[in-house]
Amino acid sequence: MSILSARSLSVRFETPRGTLQAVNDVSLDVNERETVGLVGESGCGKSTLGKALMRLVPAAEGRIFVSGQDITRLGSKAIAAIRSDVQMIFQDPYGSLNPRHTVGKIIGQPLSVAGWKRADIKARVCELVDKVGLPQAALDRFPHEFSGGQRQRIGIARALALNPKVVICDEPVSALDVSVRAQVINLMKDLQAETGVSFLFISHDLSVVEHISDRLLVMYLGRVVESGKAADIWPAPAHPYTAALLAAAPVANPKLARSRTRKTLQGELPSPLNPPQGCAFHTRCPIAQARCHEERPLLRSIEGHAGRQVACHFDLVTHQKTPDLAATETSYVSA
Ligand SMILES: Nc1ncnc2c1ncn2[C@@H]1O[C@H](COP(=O)(O)OP(=O)(O)OP(=O)(O)O)[C@@H](O)[C@H]1O
Ligand code: SF4
Ligand SMILES: [Mg+2]
Repeated sequence: MSILSARSLSVRFETPRGTLQAVNDVSLDVNERETVGLVGESGCGKSTLGKALMRLVPAAEGRIFVSGQDITRLGSKAIAAIRSDVQMIFQDPYGSLNPRHTVGKIIGQPLSVAGWKRADIKARVCELVDKVGLPQAALDRFPHEFSGGQRQRIGIARALALNPKVVICDEPVSALDVSVRAQVINLMKDLQAETGVSFLFISHDLSVVEHISDRLLVMYLGRVVESGKAADIWPAPAHPYTAALLAAAPVANPKLARSRTRKTLQGELPSPLNPPQGCAFHTRCPIAQARCHEERPLLRSIEGHAGRQVACHFDLVTHQKTPDLAATETSYVSA
C-alpha cells in the first residue's frame, strides 16, 4: 500500500529572472516498509520535491496523498495532524537542531507540540536515544557537544518520535565522513526493520542510495527520467543520464573517481530557468539524435520490464543490441 504519493506534481518559483520550474509533473509512490531513492545532480529539484510533499512549499499543480488521503489543499491545522505521519530529516543536522536546546528537549519537541504529557515525553525520549545508539547522558547536553554522525542520530530520533509512517531524508549522510555514513545508514535500516517506517531517501550520490533503496527515481531538471527497482537499474540503466551517473559514482580510488566524473558527464547542467527544448538532456547526451532536439520523450513503461519507466526515445534497455549504442555504453565504463 502506498503511504506517500504524488500525482503530476509541479512546483514553480517566481524569480527576478523569470519563472523557474523546479519540479515538473512528478508522480511517485512510497509504499509500506519501502525505501525509495531519489537521485540527480545538484539543482534538479530533489529538495523542492521533498518539501512540496511535506507541504513546506506550495504545489503549483498536482496532488499529494498520505495513506490515500488527499492532503494537497488541507488547511494548516489538518496539516499539523499529518506531520506525525510524514517527517523530514535534513543534510545538516546542526542547522536543523536548535543550539540552545538540550538534546532531550530537541527530541521531545514534536511530542510536546502533539500535546503529550511531560512524563510520557520523558519516557519516550529515553527510549528514542537508546534506539539511535546514544547514551542517556546525551539528553542533558547540547548539539555542539556531539560529532556530525551523533547529531544525525539526534535528528533521526526526533524524526521518529511520533512513529511516522514515512520519513523524507534529504541528503542525511552527505555531510558525514565516509566511515560514519555506513553507521548511520545501517542504523536507518535497522530502525526500518524494527518500526516498518518507509523512507524517501534523497541523494545526489548514487553510491549512497545503492545500499538502501528498493526502488529508484532519477531526476533531471525537475523531471523524473527513469524509475524502477534498484536491482534492475544498477546492472542495466535505461536512461543515458542514469548510465552517466552510475559511471561517475565514486569508486574506491578517489583520483580515478574524479577523472571519471569529468569524462562521463560532459557539459554544464543547463539553467532550469531556460531548459533545452525537446529532451532536456540532449545538450549532454552522448547518443542524442535529431529527434531529441525537437520532441520531448514522455516517461513510459519499458516493454517486457515490469515496473520500469524511462523518458528517452532510444533507451539503453530496449536498444542495447544496436551496435553504435553498445559502443557508447562501453565508453561510459572505460572513460
Ligand atoms: N525558494 C526558492 N526560490 C527560487 N528558486 C529556488 C528556491 N528553492 C530552490 N530553487 C531553485 O530550484 C531548483 C531546484 O532546487 P533544489 O534545492 O530542489 O535542488 P536539489 O536537487 O535539492 O539540489 P541539491 O543537490 O544541491 O540539494 C534550483 O534551480 C534552485 O536554485
Ligand atoms: S531522448 Fe535523446 S537526448 Fe534524451 S536521453 Fe534519450 S537519446 Fe539522449
Ligand atoms: Mg537539495
